[in-house]
Amino acid sequence: MSTVPVIAIDGPSGSGKGTLARLLAVHLGWNLLDSGALYRLLALAGSRVGADPHDEAAHAALAGTMNIRFSGDASGEEQIWLGSVEVSREIRTERAGEGASRVAAMPSVRAALMERQRRFAQEPGLVADGRDMGTVVFPDARLKVFLTASAAERAKRRYKQLKDKGFDVSLAALSQELAERDQRDANRAVSPLKPAVDAELIDNTGMSIEQVVQAVLDLAKTRKLC
Ligand code: DC
Repeated sequence: MSTVPVIAIDGPSGSGKGTLARLLAVHLGWNLLDSGALYRLLALAGSRVGADPHDEAAHAALAGTMNIRFSGDASGEEQIWLGSVEVSREIRTERAGEGASRVAAMPSVRAALMERQRRFAQEPGLVADGRDMGTVVFPDARLKVFLTASAAERAKRRYKQLKDKGFDVSLAALSQELAERDQRDANRAVSPLKPAVDAELIDNTGMSIEQVVQAVLDLAKTRKLC
């Protein structure tokens, strides 16, 4: 396994881990892996080629071959490409999240994406955001954080995030979709969403993002990561 230091941030949808991971990566000057984006891209790649949404072999093959690119640094507006098409916005819809959660439950898809994810571990370090970063993909991560927040707060944050991006969403529908997605992510047979045994649990309900970033930086300092 690589000696590049990794900070793994895992947790359910809307826990704020994406924002936290991005701010940490900027602060530390490290690379960023948004692993959820890979599952979202795969679901989209599948629908582009007309794959049956339940066809595991087709999605596992695509996981190894899909041509994706992340551009822009973590501090600015990030662009995500699938082939020659810019899909940064399209992969953020709840529909794409739903497709991602479905393909993420397929064991051979997870196996096919493993190496792709590990290749993000480059000097000087990596902040990796997902569901199984600390448990499966980077078991040797120097710091593992499991971030949670109450279901009501997570739904509200997601609602605001999507509204700010100009999406027309309803809070009630979003709460329902988040609950279903959490249920599937936590109960699937492979790499279910759960904290690593050596993870630091942070419930950030009622905390500001600055407070959460500071709490994780304090943990990083005690481990001599910064
Ligand atoms: O973090 P997100 O909402 O972009 O993730 C989209 C879906 O992908 C989510 O329902 C769970 C799945 N996922 C996963 O199974 N493992 C990861 N490491 C990241 C995301």
